[in-house]
Amino acid sequence: MTATQGASLDVAALRGDFPIFAERGPEFHYLDSAASSQRPAVVLDAMDRYYRAHHANVHRGVYGLAEDATERYEHARQRVGTFLNAPDPAREVVFVKNATEALNLVAQGLGRVLLSPETAVVLTEMEHHANLVPWLILQEQLGFELRYLRFDDHGELVLDEAERLLEGAAILGVTAMSNVLGTLNPVRELVDRAHEAGALVVVDAAQYAPHHRVDVQAWGADLVALTGHKMLGPTGIGALWARREILERMVPFLGGGDMILDVTLEGFVPNEVPYKFEAGTPPIAEAVGWEVAIDYLEHRVGFELLESHEQQLTVYALEALREGLGQRIHIFGPKDPARRGGVLSFKLDGVHPHDVAQVLDLHGVCVRAGHHCAKPLLRELGELATARASLYLYNDQEDIDALVRALHDAWRRFNA
Ligand code: ALA
Repeated sequence: MTATQGASLDVAALRGDFPIFAERGPEFHYLDSAASSQRPAVVLDAMDRYYRAHHANVHRGVYGLAEDATERYEHARQRVGTFLNAPDPAREVVFVKNATEALNLVAQGLGRVLLSPETAVVLTEMEHHANLVPWLILQEQLGFELRYLRFDDHGELVLDEAERLLEGAAILGVTAMSNVLGTLNPVRELVDRAHEAGALVVVDAAQYAPHHRVDVQAWGADLVALTGHKMLGPTGIGALWARREILERMVPFLGGGDMILDVTLEGFVPNEVPYKFEAGTPPIAEAVGWEVAIDYLEHRVGFELLESHEQQLTVYALEALREGLGQRIHIFGPKDPARRGGVLSFKLDGVHPHDVAQVLDLHGVCVRAGHHCAKPLLRELGELATARASLYLYNDQEDIDALVRALHDAWRRFNA
């Protein structure tokens, strides 16, 4: 049953599902879900139960327990695929360690096949290092051109430049939601433009997927990366979705057990997709936990209510921060709350972001401070670091009020 109260999310009821809130007490304001979310007891219990009663290695044993573990692992793959509205969920989802590994797999698995010194990859200046450094590594090896779509003063991509940049490009990489600015990017429009130019599109959905239903077919994307730990699931598991024919074209990235059909001392025959990308024992309990997290998000929470809750809380936070701190705070990213997710990066006048985060911690308010693994973006902003509060389903106005009170204290300590 969805946790609704009228047409809004029953945050108090949902918080009761997360053991960490009872453990940490009422003065715990977790505003760092963009770095990693908390997880409900159902996820922890599912993993515990799996280890206690069902664990064996997958795709190897012929005894019942091993077949049961394999079924659970493959069921989780199907579940991730249906969450993404994948046309062929059993074949198109590759389990990896996190979104970073998924994007490295794209660079090494697809980039090596498609790229040469005559080709180009287009990225945006707001990419996380995970969708930047793998391409820089590959560029050193293959020598293709890297081009960047800029963002404007409002933190929105400058789409007018897309056509020129995409000319002759083989791949476009774009984040669906910036982990620093919160910007929600126009994925469908960019996919259409890239396809017109003959480029494939890889979408980094690590920040987007925890908050919105992802429909890879509606996006028209070719490859999508996501991670479990930002969407109530365990750490150590993520996925790459790609259209089956693209996975078939890609070359393996990691070699080892399970990713082969045959091996001789002279060579090997890769396994079928998606197994040819899953070398070694995979994250089995993590897959089981992630499936339960997806069920929780879809059925206990509900994406429509989640989106409206986060939208309302983002509006409340933007107003509370501006009213409470006035000229003392500068918030980065789109001014229009409808154009952004619940990620609020800011700078407090006269206080280093790391000092901000430390004073906030004294008040039980957890935020991230630093470059957020997006150094080129920070350079564009003219900053070395920002503080960042990020919202999720278990946050409410009391968390925002605590943030504003703590920021007042931080400002007073360094400016009085
Ligand atoms: N990518 C994560 C963040 O933005 C870790 O904090």
